[in-house]
This record gives sequence, structure tokens and C-alpha cells, in this order.
Amino acid sequence: MKIDFAEPDLSVADTLVVGAPTGGRLAAFASDLDERMGGALKRAMKHARFDGKAGRFLSVLAPGGVAAERVVVAGLGKMREFDELAAAKLGGGAVAHLLSSGAQRAAILVEPGRSAPVSPAACAARIAHGARLRGYRFDKYRTTLKKDEKPSLAAVTVMAADAGAARAAWEPLDALTDGVFLTRDLVSEPANVLTPPAYAARIMELETDGLAVEVLDGDRLREMGMGAILGVAAGSEHDAHIAVLRWNGAADGEAPVAIVGKGVTFDTGGISIKPSGGMEDMKWDMGGSGVVVGLMRALARRRAGVNAVGVVGLVENMPSGTAQRPGDVVTSYSGQTIEILNTDAEGRLVLADALWYARKRFEPRVMIDLATLTGAIIVGLGKYRAGLFSNDDRLSGRLVAAGKAVDEPVWPMPMDDRYGELIKSDIADVKNIGGRGAGSVTAAKFLERFVGEGPWAHLDIAGVTWTDKAGPLVPKGGTGFGVRLLDRFIADHYEDR
Ligand code: BES
Ligand code: MN
Ligand code: ZN
Repeated sequence: MKIDFAEPDLSVADTLVVGAPTGGRLAAFASDLDERMGGALKRAMKHARFDGKAGRFLSVLAPGGVAAERVVVAGLGKMREFDELAAAKLGGGAVAHLLSSGAQRAAILVEPGRSAPVSPAACAARIAHGARLRGYRFDKYRTTLKKDEKPSLAAVTVMAADAGAARAAWEPLDALTDGVFLTRDLVSEPANVLTPPAYAARIMELETDGLAVEVLDGDRLREMGMGAILGVAAGSEHDAHIAVLRWNGAADGEAPVAIVGKGVTFDTGGISIKPSGGMEDMKWDMGGSGVVVGLMRALARRRAGVNAVGVVGLVENMPSGTAQRPGDVVTSYSGQTIEILNTDAEGRLVLADALWYARKRFEPRVMIDLATLTGAIIVGLGKYRAGLFSNDDRLSGRLVAAGKAVDEPVWPMPMDDRYGELIKSDIADVKNIGGRGAGSVTAAKFLERFVGEGPWAHLDIAGVTWTDKAGPLVPKGGTGFGVRLLDRFIADHYEDR
């Protein structure tokens, strides 16, 4: 789907989208259009009980007198509440409404009122951002698409009085969308294609974005003594890899922000094997690493004024004659020994070595990890919010605020030391599972042992990485949840310009 900006013009598209706030009062351009249509818009709004609520759309076939074939009225909600996020959702909602409607070229013009907390240029840019996010598709493996399976909508023009200003505001958002799309592409890839070495090779390609990329292969991990991640890889034909991505957008020597991700390319559970029903979902058990990689692309493409480092642990969890067993003891990179009581609690083992590596090598000013870590977080929070665990209340507050701003909401979870007692081992320094209760918390307490000193947060994204239901900014499938959140968090707190 092509996106561009233009000055208001009625003739550029077969479909025009205009906004109406709650109460239905049309602004200048829309009202003009209605007049040309002989009042057809207002009549349709009244007849369809269209109230201007956000998320509502009303299609009207255009009578003669206008070039467009159809006009869509989009509800804006209350003007006072029409902010950047609302504008993005409007763009996404319009695309969802028109994607397979037969419309080929749509033009969107929304005139935010004076009371709206968004400027006209930012509004146009956010509409474009939302439109592009919702228009994402993963068609790589469809060799044939029937006509009615193909989206009709090919181009969206966002109209604004100052199209140049809108385009300038859109540029960093376009880069951010590129990052989200990379994350969605990666989580959508099947595990026979995205094996740990293939994934590492794909990450290498990001050097063309201006990132510095290093890959530590299995031999290197063995030399370094990364027994935790290596134990997970033991049953697989593929060696584990750790990839490091660096973006230096601030002064040399300024400590980086470190983002660490779980990249389990497939999680069978290992010897503690999972039931077969739904196991295919475990192709997206690399979702945390996917967010890291997408975010690093976004930071590089928008030339963010920050030093950032991404560390991802890439590994496949398989059962075999060489797989690790329940009862095994491994020595992690940090030196702590771990009793493996369930080989399906593998994500924390991958992160244990990746987190300690990030701490040791980069001494980051802040460290955040993302992982599809526990089924228990889905029991606790469902598929709407990610779980947030942190050793620092200020950091936690900032992540909550960033998540709210971009509609990738997170919910703070407890980290009391009492939960840490549940992972004491009889034979080693720690064991890799707790008891029945608080499964997401004991997992986070496990990670905490490997983060060293300094502010750290863990996002358990098991419930939000994949969706069976489309939303205003996300089609079904991989969501990219976390990329926009962390981009916003970095922009708000770690960039000077
Ligand atoms: N990758 C899973 C967690 C998961 C479950 C992600 C469902 C997405 C959807 C993780 O490796 C896992 O298997 N966790 C176990 C931990 C248990 C053995 C302590 C779980 O949640 O059951
Ligand atoms: Mn598992
Ligand atoms: Zn897993």
C-alpha cells in the first residue's frame, strides 16, 4: 500500500474519507463536500444514527457532482480527546474499512478542531502511520491469491493544508513502521525457515541500515562458558547464536540503553515436551528478539539521538538424544549454577546468559528485556496488556506511560523477595521453575539474578505478541507489540534532540 501526502483536493481518489466529531458537526472541507453532494452526507448521518463516535465509519455512495465514487464519514470522538493516538487509530480504522471494499485509491482529510491536542500536520502524519500499520500483510508464502482475497486498496493519500509539514512529521514514523513490519515479518516466519543460524544471517543484513552487527556462534558461546543458553540448544541440530546490534546516535562513550530479547525460534518444550495441540504457536517464541531487532532498525532508520545496543539469544528447544534432561545442572555465563527441573522453562535460561553478557560488556544505563516467557501471564492479564517487572519504580512508571501513549499497555507486577524463595534449589544456586503459583513472577525473579546492578525491567509479552483478532493498528497475526512502546520510551527519556 502506497502512502503519500497532498494539499486538499477532491479529485485525487475514488474514495474520500472525512471526519465528523461526536455530535456530527462537519468541519469546513467536509461541510463544503456535503453541499456539493446536495446534503447527502448529513442526511446519511442522520438516517444511520451516526453519532461521530471514534471507531465508527459510514459509507455513502457519492451522487453526481463529485469526482469520488464514495465518501466515508469517520467518527472522531470528542475533539478534546482527539490526540495523536486517536489520529493513528482513525487512519488504521479507515484502512480496515476500505481494504477489501473495492476502493483502490483513498484520500483522507481530517481537520482537527482548535480544542484537539494534535496539530494538523501531526494529525496527518499519525493518520498515515496508523494506515500503514493496519495495512500490513504477510503474503510471502501464498503463491496464488484469488481476486477476492487480494486487498483492493492500493494507495492512501493523506491531505493536509501544509503537506510538506505533514511529510516531515511522517518521516520518523515511517522509519518506526519499517521496524514494526520487520518484527511482524520475523514472528510470522515458520521455524523451518527461521532457524537460529538463518535468523543470525538475517540480522547481519541490518548492517545496511547503519547498525553494527556481531554474531557469536556456538563455538564462541562454548568458549565463553554460556552453559544456560547452550543447554537449551543441546537437543537441536542447530547451534545457539547470540547477535549483538549497535546503534550509536549519541556521543561516543555515553553508556547505552540495552534491549535484550528471547529468541527461541521454536519451543517444543524439549524433554518436558508440550502437548501437540497449538504447538505451532511456538514458532513465535522468538517474539522478544523480534521486537529488539525491529526496534534497532527503527532507531537506525530515524537516526535516533541515542546509543542503543540490542542483544538477542537465538536457539531452538528440541527433544532428542542429546537434549538436556530434567535434573541436569548447568553453569551459566554468570557462574551461577542452575538446576533444570523443567526443560520447557527455557526462555529464562536463554535470557540469563544474554542479560549477563549485556551487563558485563556494555554496562548499560538501563536494561530492558522482552520475552514470550510464561503462559501464566496470559492467565493473569489476558491478551491485552504485557506484564511489567522491574527493580526500579521510576523506570516502571516511564514504561507504563509510554505504553499508554501508544496503546501498547503494560501492567506492573510484584517482585517481592518472598517470591524468590520459591526458586531455591536443593543442589544448585537456583532452579528454573517455582511451584504452582505466580509463575510469571518466579520467572522474573529468576531473571533478576542475572541482571547485576542498575535499573532493569522485564516485559512478559507472551499474551500480546500474536493476535487472532484484528485491531485498529494491527491485522491478525504478529503484532510487533513493544516496538512502538520502546521507541516512545527512548524518544521521551534518552534523546536530547
Ligand atoms: N514459550 C513458553 C511460554 C508461552 C506460552 C508463550 C504460551 C506464549 C504462549 C515458555 O517457554 C514456557 O513454556 N513456559 C512454561 C513455564 C513452566 C514450565 C514453568 C509455561 O508457561 O508453561
Ligand atoms: Mn517453554
Ligand atoms: Zn518458550
